[in-house]
Amino acid sequence: MTLPYRHVLVTGGAGFVGSRLCLRLRREFEGLRVTALDNLVRRGSELHIRPLREHGVDFVHGDIRCPEDLAALPAFDLLLECSAEPSVHAGQSGSPVGVVHNNLTGALHCLEAARQNGAAVLFLSTSRVYPIAHLRALRHTEAETRLELTAEQELPGCSHAGIAEGFPLDGARSFYGMTKLAGEALIQEYVFTYGMRALIDRCGVIAGPGQMGKADQGVVTLWAARHVYGRPLKYIGFGGHGKQVRDVLHVDDLCDLVVLQLQSPSIWDGRIYNAGGGAAHSASLLELTGLCRELSGQKVEIASEPATAAVDVPIYVTDNALVERELGWQPRRDVPTTLGEILAWIRDHRDELRPVLDS
Ligand SMILES: NC(=O)c1ccc[n+]([C@@H]2O[C@H](COP(=O)([O-])OP(=O)(O)OC[C@H]3O[C@@H](n4cnc5c(N)ncnc54)[C@H](O)[C@@H]3O)[C@@H](O)[C@H]2O)c1
Repeated sequence: MTLPYRHVLVTGGAGFVGSRLCLRLRREFEGLRVTALDNLVRRGSELHIRPLREHGVDFVHGDIRCPEDLAALPAFDLLLECSAEPSVHAGQSGSPVGVVHNNLTGALHCLEAARQNGAAVLFLSTSRVYPIAHLRALRHTEAETRLELTAEQELPGCSHAGIAEGFPLDGARSFYGMTKLAGEALIQEYVFTYGMRALIDRCGVIAGPGQMGKADQGVVTLWAARHVYGRPLKYIGFGGHGKQVRDVLHVDDLCDLVVLQLQSPSIWDGRIYNAGGGAAHSASLLELTGLCRELSGQKVEIASEPATAAVDVPIYVTDNALVERELGWQPRRDVPTTLGEILAWIRDHRDELRPVLDS
C-alpha cells in the first residue's frame, strides 16, 4: 500500500503508542521512511529502540522542548505527535510547570516544525480533556462488580454508550488534560491560519504489550505485572471497592484507526474523534483482578484505600459513534485478549522488564 507521504516523524516514538505505530507504519506502507524521536524520559522506553532499528525505523534521541532538535531533522511531511508526560497526576503534588512545558510548549514546537515542513499532523489527545466535575456528575448505578452508566443522563454528549465529542468542556480537568485541550486549540489555530492538515484522536485508556505501566499511568499493565511478579495492589478511591470503570483500547486497534485515517485525506481538517474501547470493551478494577487471576493463575493481595484523588473519576467509557459513522472503524480486541497479550509479553521478557515493571 502507498501513501501521499514519504517521511513520517513520530514524536514520542520510543513510547508505548509511538513505537507500536512506527512498527505498524513500516510494515504497512512500503518505502515510507519513519523516524522516531524521543528523549527516553519514560522508564523502559529505551527497550523499544532495538526493535525499532531492526525494523528500519530511524531513532533520534531528541527533545520536543528543544526546537533545535526538531530543526535538525531531515524534511518530513507527516507528524504523529505521541510524546507526552501522560499521567493525569502530573503536577498535582507540586509545580505544574514541568508537565505544562513538556506537553504544551513541546506541542507548540512540534506544530511549528510541522508548519515549517508543510507537514500534516495527527495529535494523540485524551479523554482527560473532559472536566472532572462533569465526569463525576454522570449518572450511574452500582452493580455487583462495576459501576454502570444509566440510559438517562443530564448532560449533553453522554448516554448509556458513553462520552461523545459533544460533552461539555467547561471546568477543571487536571494540568495534563489542560495541556492536551490547549494542544487541540493550538492545532485548530494552525488549521485556520496556515491551512495545516490535521486530525485529533481523543483516546481513553490505551493498553497492550509494550506499555511500561506504573502506579500513575498504564493501569492494565500495572495490574498484569503485579500478578506476574507476585506483588500487592490497591483499590484506590470511590470507597476502595474497585468498581470504577474504564474502557480499554488495544493499541493495535488504535493503529488500525490511524492507518485508516492516513488513507482518508478528506478528514484532515482539524476534526476531533473520540476513540476508545467503548462499552463492549470496558472493565472495572475488580473485573480486571478476576481476569488477571484467571489468565495468570496467580492471586495477589489487594488492599483498599477509600479516599479519592482529586483528579480521579468513577467511570469513563468512550462513545465511538462519530468515528464509526465516518470511518467505519470499531475496536475489535476485547479486554481478556488485551490482558492475555500483556501477560504473555511480560512473561516472555520477565527479566528484561523486571527493573521497569517490578519496582
Ligand atoms: N496510554 C494511554 O492510555 C493514553 C490515553 C490517552 C492518550 N494518550 C496519549 O497518547 C500519547 C502516547 O502515550 P503513551 O501511552 O505512548 O505514553 P508513553 O509515556 O509510553 O510514551 C510517550 C513517550 O514520549 C517521550 N517523551 C516525553 N516527553 C518528551 C519530550 N519532551 N521530548 C521527546 N520525547 C518525550 C517519552 O520518553 C515516551 O517514550 C501521549 O500523548 C498520551 O497523552 C495515552
